[in-house]
Amino acid sequence: MYSLKILALVFILIGSFLLLLPNESLSSPFSLSDPSSYTNFLEKRYSEHHEFYEYHEFHDSNEYHEKSYNIKITKEPYAPDGFKRDIYLVNGQFPGPLIECNKGDVLVINVENCLNEDTTIHSHGIFQRDSPWYDGVPGQTQGGIPSNETFTYKFKVDQSGTYWYHSHSRAQYIEGLLGPLIVHDPQDPYLHEYDEEIIVILQDWYHTDSKTLLATFLTPESEGNEPDPDNGLINGKNSYNCSWAPNGSKCDSDAPLANFKLVYGKRYRFRIINTSAFATFIFSIDDHPLDVIEVEGMMTKRHTVHRLPINIAQRYSVIVKADKPKKKYWMRSEMESACFAAPATNLNPLIKAIVEYEGCDNKDPSSTAWSDDVENCVDLNVTDLKPYKPQNVPKVDRKIEITINFKPDENNVTMGYINNSTYKIDIKNPTLYKVYDDVKTFDTDQNAFILEKDCEVIDIILKNEDGGEHPFHLHGHVFWLLGIGVNGTTLDYDKLNTKDPIQRDVTTVPAKGWAVLRFVADNPGVWGFHCHIEWHVQSGLVAQFVELPDKIKKLNPPEDWKALKSKIKEY
Ligand code: C2O
Repeated sequence: MYSLKILALVFILIGSFLLLLPNESLSSPFSLSDPSSYTNFLEKRYSEHHEFYEYHEFHDSNEYHEKSYNIKITKEPYAPDGFKRDIYLVNGQFPGPLIECNKGDVLVINVENCLNEDTTIHSHGIFQRDSPWYDGVPGQTQGGIPSNETFTYKFKVDQSGTYWYHSHSRAQYIEGLLGPLIVHDPQDPYLHEYDEEIIVILQDWYHTDSKTLLATFLTPESEGNEPDPDNGLINGKNSYNCSWAPNGSKCDSDAPLANFKLVYGKRYRFRIINTSAFATFIFSIDDHPLDVIEVEGMMTKRHTVHRLPINIAQRYSVIVKADKPKKKYWMRSEMESACFAAPATNLNPLIKAIVEYEGCDNKDPSSTAWSDDVENCVDLNVTDLKPYKPQNVPKVDRKIEITINFKPDENNVTMGYINNSTYKIDIKNPTLYKVYDDVKTFDTDQNAFILEKDCEVIDIILKNEDGGEHPFHLHGHVFWLLGIGVNGTTLDYDKLNTKDPIQRDVTTVPAKGWAVLRFVADNPGVWGFHCHIEWHVQSGLVAQFVELPDKIKKLNPPEDWKALKSKIKEY
């Protein structure tokens, strides 16, 4: 009798628990053994939960596939935050359309340059193994695509994760010439742990064109203080207080915020990309913890945070569960204006978007921000992040010290220096063409490091003498991040993490701090290494690795790439 009662109670409990479950199934809606369900799965994710990314046909095969995109670049009036100005558009859109493929695909990007200046497209984070001529860097890997001409980038993608593409010419990307680039991996270890994907592009935004800003920045009067942004955007949207706009501007204070719709019970992979010129952000969604699973293409063990610092060009994937009361919540992207050299005026550093559960009422969010403290102007603590799979970090063969600082040049203009040399772009004769012309030594102002030995293990010891933080990016590679130190810490080689460091392609070197980056020189090409603050690219905080020149020469560059060189004009 007694045991029957217990049994009945158990049944009632199980029954009511089942009733409490949301209607949506929590399990992944496809199996890897059925490729067609995989295709549908992705289609659903993008078509239902993307405001502006169109779904493109998804290939899924272990065979080699070509995935082609045509992108047309124009400059037109556009008002992302209600303030109208001329910006760069890709296929009439800002941010540019999603480019996506599967790991193992060959990506083909046909670029039509409808500007009256040259341009380039750099696929940020893509290794370009055996295709170094498609890395998209003027002065280093190619001549610009001339005005009114087309050029095709075509490369094999043997990696997966969250990337982006952007112009590497002048400061074009900070005026809109960018978009997300996602590489799917059918073997992604987290594939069954989320139901849908959402791309979130964070960026700072200027209301003045970059040419004007640059001209002011590169004068003695600026004293090296970078131009502060006017606003920030999430997926190309925000509103702006037009009373701050100069008289006569075309400005509407009611521009809409980005709106992300979630379905209760589903799990989302947010792919977060910071495409800024200058600003680092702290990203969060009220009441919703973020489980970090990917850093710049490298999968990590799950690590839960509430507020995620993300510097320029960095990317994170986080899994978010939509399991909170059906309401609207704020997504916050807090611009760390405390890291700016000159205090910003007329800037609202808190950029917001709305996260809305389907079927909730129409009231504005009333949610409050997470109160966790995070340290300003540094990365998410890397010692908290662990690679998904254990790795063998090879021993170092060669240490390269790179000291960075800023000081006035002979015209009293503050410039950025790499080992006391400020980079001068050689627009007429990019490095990769020089390598094919058998040039073996490079001018000092090229900041070129030559790596001759195949598979040599390189440590970059980055020392920052400047009072600002710098997000450094290495092309053609990911590096193991062996350690980062803030001001006042000394680098002790024995204490570096050679056991389980994460790999990434952008790291912050803190103000007056240091960082140690390890990579294997096994990818023939010319690879840029630079601070991703666009103002600092323009003031010379740029280096390049000429990696395995003998092997580069054995690769056969395409004719249209060679032809670009003869079309180079001065800036
Ligand atoms: Cu986002 Cu030199 O690159």
